[in-house]
Amino acid sequence: MRTPLIAGNWKMYKTVAEAVELVEALLKEVEVGYADDRQVLICPPFTALYPLAPLLAESPVALGAQNMYPASQGAFTGEVSPVMLQEIGCSFVILGHSERRQVFGETDELISKKVQTAIDYGLTPVLCIGETKPQRDGGEAEAVTLGQLRAGLGGLAAEQIQDIVIAYEPVWAIGTGDTATPADAQAMHAAIRGALSSHYGPETADAVRILYGGSVKPDNVDTLMAQPDIDGALVGGASLQAESFLRIVNFR
Ligand code: 13P
Repeated sequence: MRTPLIAGNWKMYKTVAEAVELVEALLKEVEVGYADDRQVLICPPFTALYPLAPLLAESPVALGAQNMYPASQGAFTGEVSPVMLQEIGCSFVILGHSERRQVFGETDELISKKVQTAIDYGLTPVLCIGETKPQRDGGEAEAVTLGQLRAGLGGLAAEQIQDIVIAYEPVWAIGTGDTATPADAQAMHAAIRGALSSHYGPETADAVRILYGGSVKPDNVDTLMAQPDIDGALVGGASLQAESFLRIVNFR
């Protein structure tokens, strides 16, 4: 059985003071019992990771970063390494988000290197894939998304990807309020699981969690989570407020 994962991607929002305030509000409500039937993850900006780590250490909420550089250390001005993230208590790292691909020009090749390096250093990658609006309109949604999946997982072996998390985030649904219909999201998630199954076998494909991301809100999370291949959500805007994020965490 796959444990549902609800993850908040805070993007470039929240100062340290604001981040601490939000986490304190979340922890007041998140009961330890949630850890059993669902997992909660927050991915704040780099500056907030270190101050938040001790607050989350004894809680059921996991901590993740939004990016990393694929080397343990070196002359890479402005970058952060997996060793540094590990040291302060991060267990996950978002990789290949469409904003990294589009705004910062990250290629499939770089993303694949990041995924491999994250695994080497014991971090669980949340590999983001998904098509743009013109690609969907042109009938290429599945080919593009599965192409990013194949490229991102590169030369990994089945046992290396069992714990990996995939996030299907159609670019046109991010920050737009324009969510994929549960049926369209389910169809893509099934295609992703199918591709994993043919590459790595059905057992591995069954173990991998596939999150949906793109305008997930309190009022659409329940129908999305009711789909058999949707194993969680990667939430942007609605993760920035305790009330809306908690409602999503408490999907029914
Ligand atoms: P929104 O939930 O704001 O659409 O953002 C989704 C996202 O990009 C999460 O990584």
